[in-house]
Amino acid sequence: MLASLEARPADPLLSLISLFEADPRTDKIDLGVGVYRDATGQTPVMAAVKAAETMLVELQGSKSYLGPEGDAGFVDSMADLAFGSMASGKSYSGLQTPGGTGALRLLLELWRHANPDGAVWLGTPSWPVHETMIRRVGAPLQTYVHYDIAAQSDCPDNLLTAIRSANPGDLFLLQGCCHNPSGADPDTSLWRTIGEALASVDAIPLVDLAYQGLGDGLDEDAAGLRILLDHVPELLLAYSCDKNFGLYRDRVGAAYILSDNVAHLGIAKGHLAEITRSCWSMPPDHGGAVVRVIMADPALAALWRSELTQMTKRIQSIRNRLADFGDVGKFAFGRLRHEKGMFALLPATPDEVARLRSDHGIFMVGSGRINLAGLQEADCDRLVQAIGRLPSFAHKRTS
Ligand code: LMR
Repeated sequence: MLASLEARPADPLLSLISLFEADPRTDKIDLGVGVYRDATGQTPVMAAVKAAETMLVELQGSKSYLGPEGDAGFVDSMADLAFGSMASGKSYSGLQTPGGTGALRLLLELWRHANPDGAVWLGTPSWPVHETMIRRVGAPLQTYVHYDIAAQSDCPDNLLTAIRSANPGDLFLLQGCCHNPSGADPDTSLWRTIGEALASVDAIPLVDLAYQGLGDGLDEDAAGLRILLDHVPELLLAYSCDKNFGLYRDRVGAAYILSDNVAHLGIAKGHLAEITRSCWSMPPDHGGAVVRVIMADPALAALWRSELTQMTKRIQSIRNRLADFGDVGKFAFGRLRHEKGMFALLPATPDEVARLRSDHGIFMVGSGRINLAGLQEADCDRLVQAIGRLPSFAHKRTS
């Protein structure tokens, strides 16, 4: 049986972790997988998380099953964070998932079950797992260019054209903030236009919100999601706490369905619970319980918010530092000042990415994505110089 399987390429993001570890150079720079590092290059457990973990150890009286929904207090507290005051008047149903990835998979499975003839629309480039997952659930994939890498500009018209050519019930997988890999997010006016367009063709948004708080702030980063809620009758949300709570390996996420129709929500939740039971049965508890403890304790919640703000400020400071270099050959560093979150995309070929690794010890994804949250202030000059020495980057930008 095994002989019939074809070899698969290693995951392009995760394989960088071991490649970096194996490199003996002491001055190597890791701009690969999307993990926040502080000014000393560490990814420490946040102080609010440590304190909540200590409280949990003391207070937790049982590890008995919670059921496929997971920790309801956690799910509700992340709904408050994401939806704010819910001015749209919609109701939601949600459950805890193993990371935002688990939420995405669950919601894609649900949508596919409800819309077996529909297509999923995805802007490119995107987080590579999006495409893999869409194919795995067997849905037809339609793509449009979200960000033109060579021109270094986002292409909002492409999304609007895609929406206008979609069929009712088609799914649009949209990143809520801090676009991975480009950092190019719609502004609020564009989110409104997107919401109107989605509503006009009766298409469904699936919002992937994996970096709330790491762009402009908690409410600002949820603005697009909240605007969509005001426009469409139904919305799906995949939420991740990996980055904003630094709980990466604990796998903490939640899946939400929002609708004007409460009866529909109840039925859909039953489907989510059934799919959950057939995949991982119940989500891992620890990380969700930690987040619940933090959000229920005003002092811990304030500590977490201030830690998150520090992280965001560091990322913005790295962005500004690089932006000050202006145009370096064909790359416009200046745009980093206005883009959001952990990532930026260099118009580099895979060969150039390999060269940065071999000649300069600078590790990044083959697509040219750099994790700005992994960069130290002191390494900015070296990075810019190394990029400037790439032959194709020596040519000036023409636009
Ligand atoms: C990334 O894009 O680097 C992160 O989201 C980590 C992952 O799971 O791919």
